[in-house]
Amino acid sequence: MRMYDIIDKKKNGMELSTEEIREMIKAYVEEQIPDYQMAAWLMAVYFQGMNNRELKDLTLAMAHSGEMIDLSPILGIKVDKHSTGGVGDKTTLAIAPIVAACGEKVAKMAGRGLGFTGGTIDKLESIPGFVTGLDQQTFFDNVNRIGLSVIGQTANITPADKKLYALRDVTATVDSIPLIAASVMSKKLASGSDKILLDVTCGSGAFMKTLEDAVKLAEIMVAIGEQAGRETIALITNMDVPLGETIGNALEVKEIIELLQGNAKEDLKEVCLALASNMLYLAKHGSNKNITLEDCRKMAEEKIQDGNAFRKLKEMVTSQHGDVEAIENTDKLPKAEYYYEIVADVGGYITSMDAKQCGMASMILGAGREKKDSEIDFGAGIRLLKKTGDSLEVGDTIATLYSNSYETFKEAEKILRSAYKIGREVSQKEKLIYARVTKEGITYY
Ligand code: URA
Repeated sequence: MRMYDIIDKKKNGMELSTEEIREMIKAYVEEQIPDYQMAAWLMAVYFQGMNNRELKDLTLAMAHSGEMIDLSPILGIKVDKHSTGGVGDKTTLAIAPIVAACGEKVAKMAGRGLGFTGGTIDKLESIPGFVTGLDQQTFFDNVNRIGLSVIGQTANITPADKKLYALRDVTATVDSIPLIAASVMSKKLASGSDKILLDVTCGSGAFMKTLEDAVKLAEIMVAIGEQAGRETIALITNMDVPLGETIGNALEVKEIIELLQGNAKEDLKEVCLALASNMLYLAKHGSNKNITLEDCRKMAEEKIQDGNAFRKLKEMVTSQHGDVEAIENTDKLPKAEYYYEIVADVGGYITSMDAKQCGMASMILGAGREKKDSEIDFGAGIRLLKKTGDSLEVGDTIATLYSNSYETFKEAEKILRSAYKIGREVSQKEKLIYARVTKEGITYY
């Protein structure tokens, strides 16, 4: 195999064989292919795409580039959830305890944030003492004992994706449907769960900007999961507007605690319940053919109302050495020293928002990483008091910024103000869930 020929074939829109794809991924992980050649191949894929067979081969080659986790020591059906990324996307923190409180097993490996998107692991690490690097046996034991554990991805899972993602990040090839599909699904297959729920985000704060592209990505990922013998469902969710009221690690943990205590913002609660009910449906319908999504939603709602989901969150925090007092009394979570209010200088209605710019403003405040090794300020972030569809009077507070470095406020304010479009016309609240994709087809909402 010559890498030159593989690049040339893809550049000319030709199909690569299984053998070529396998050998290329193996050689790249073994450092026998330089980044400049792989970058050229990624750009060729960006423009020429891949057919379903090539994509399946690429996903499997990436999954098998490292350890394939065997979750069989965990009893019962294991169900995983993955989001393609967003701003204020904190749903895993609520869904995992809800699903575990309903008796199912969540053994989840999650990632860190980069750029304008946040990561579940950073949010969890904002809880004082919380350990995300458990050894495999403790991870298995915790899931068997309490039903859930969320840890960071171990270094030996999908090394091909780690190398390729870093290269895509600097070669403008992240937002390619086949490359995202192979990246997400290789990690999901290697992580070992039996069932997979995908949250495919769509809008200004997501990689997929249009519903058409989001559906295409969802269909491809569902097909890859099903072909690999893992039942897979995708929900397409709105990421034009950040989810819930907060962006930033400790702020988001606090918002999730409020949700699990029954005080949620409507949009966050709606998306969490939709995701949780689909996870429950995946876990339960194999042994109970008559169960419906509505039954699963009722179960999820009950577990919030009766406090069991909140108890599960506390059990997980305790089992991962976190300070459970900070969950019971959120004043003990990290807090920023300074805050700054952004006040409306015109009245009207918020007609749209740019979620990516909101994420950028939060990153500037210290809540996100500009580069892979940037330090995170756990107390930093934004509370959005006004969102799309809200009315606004001069003098209203639109958002509050939090940071430990006062000098970041000016730039963050400028970016955040540019994220809001304000008009004279009342605008509709946007849909939260656009569609559900299964192997049977697509349901639009
Ligand atoms: N999330 C991933 O895991 N991979 C991508 O390529 C994009 C989003």
